[in-house]
Amino acid sequence: MLKTFLTEAWGLRYPLIGAPMAGVAFGALANAVSRAGALGMIGIGSSDPTDKIEREASIARDGEMRFGIGLMAWALPQRDELLEAAIAAQPFVISMTGGSIAPYAARVREAGILLAAQVNTGADAREAEAAGADFIVAQGTEAGGHTGDVATLTLLQLVLAAVRVPVVAAGGIASARGLAAVLAAGAQGAWIGTPLLAAHEAGTTPAARARIIAAKEDETVLTRVFDRTLGIKWPARYPGRALVNRFTQEWHGREDEAATNATTVSTLKSATAAKDFNLTYIYAGQSVGLIERERPAAEIVAEIGDGAERILRERLDSVLE
Ligand SMILES: Cc1cc2nc3c(=O)[nH]c(=O)nc-3n(C[C@H](O)[C@H](O)[C@H](O)COP(=O)(O)O)c2cc1C
Repeated sequence: MLKTFLTEAWGLRYPLIGAPMAGVAFGALANAVSRAGALGMIGIGSSDPTDKIEREASIARDGEMRFGIGLMAWALPQRDELLEAAIAAQPFVISMTGGSIAPYAARVREAGILLAAQVNTGADAREAEAAGADFIVAQGTEAGGHTGDVATLTLLQLVLAAVRVPVVAAGGIASARGLAAVLAAGAQGAWIGTPLLAAHEAGTTPAARARIIAAKEDETVLTRVFDRTLGIKWPARYPGRALVNRFTQEWHGREDEAATNATTVSTLKSATAAKDFNLTYIYAGQSVGLIERERPAAEIVAEIGDGAERILRERLDSVLE
């Protein structure tokens, strides 16, 4: 068995957390990840209705399971009701990304819910710890979705040196080797998003899965072009890592032009509604190159978790005198 803060203090079988992914990680995926012995999370987007939180939480819980809910910190000043609904759903963890947890930390902790902050620099990590984060997710630029520009391994070293609370690594961890590496470095676990995109229980469409399975590690781009063109108010500091497609090839780097061109805006809006992935986004990280097929979330979790234990045992034997 692997032994870390996540397995000891939380009683998880594997030191793995299924990332909250808006539009992809609904209650069914969170439930499957938790049942597999990790912690599953539900992703809530900035414009999601609050009744979705209640509905997906009840699917994730399914009477008994622990789960988490991930919110976007930058959306909360306009939509406090998202935090209210998340607290009312009584998850095990609430995580926040894309901004400071400071204005919200007391409410989450007073409700007896663990608070996680997803961070992209060492300074972010220190701020989150001071604001009351129970644990920190060091999210490298390899990650799918909105992220920073420091790589996971560099960031993990910085964050581990900067804080005392438990640290979980995110970004590019999609196999047993990746989990073994971050545990060896001192992380208490890994937070995995991209590896779950082709899980049976994920909210991705068949067409999106086919693209995810076909994509290689050098076919993603860190871009603001989708947010700018669609008018989604992610702060400029957090571009999103998505699969390269016709739209990014034409407009990435020309965000101002795309966002002010009425035809481009309406074309992308229609494509997004129609899920036409030649144009609209599929957020995915560089580890997309490791995804080879669709399978149940439980298989993904067990393969990474059991494999990491094997690798750590073998490596420790071979690298230590
Ligand atoms: C499709 C997708 C949607 C995401 N949505 C969210 C989100 O709603 N909230 C959040 O905190 N993180 C979100 N993320 C980022 C993940 O929490 C996590 O940091 C990332 O997936 C980890 O890196 P990996 O994709 O390389 O596994 C998303 C990631 C992806 C791939």
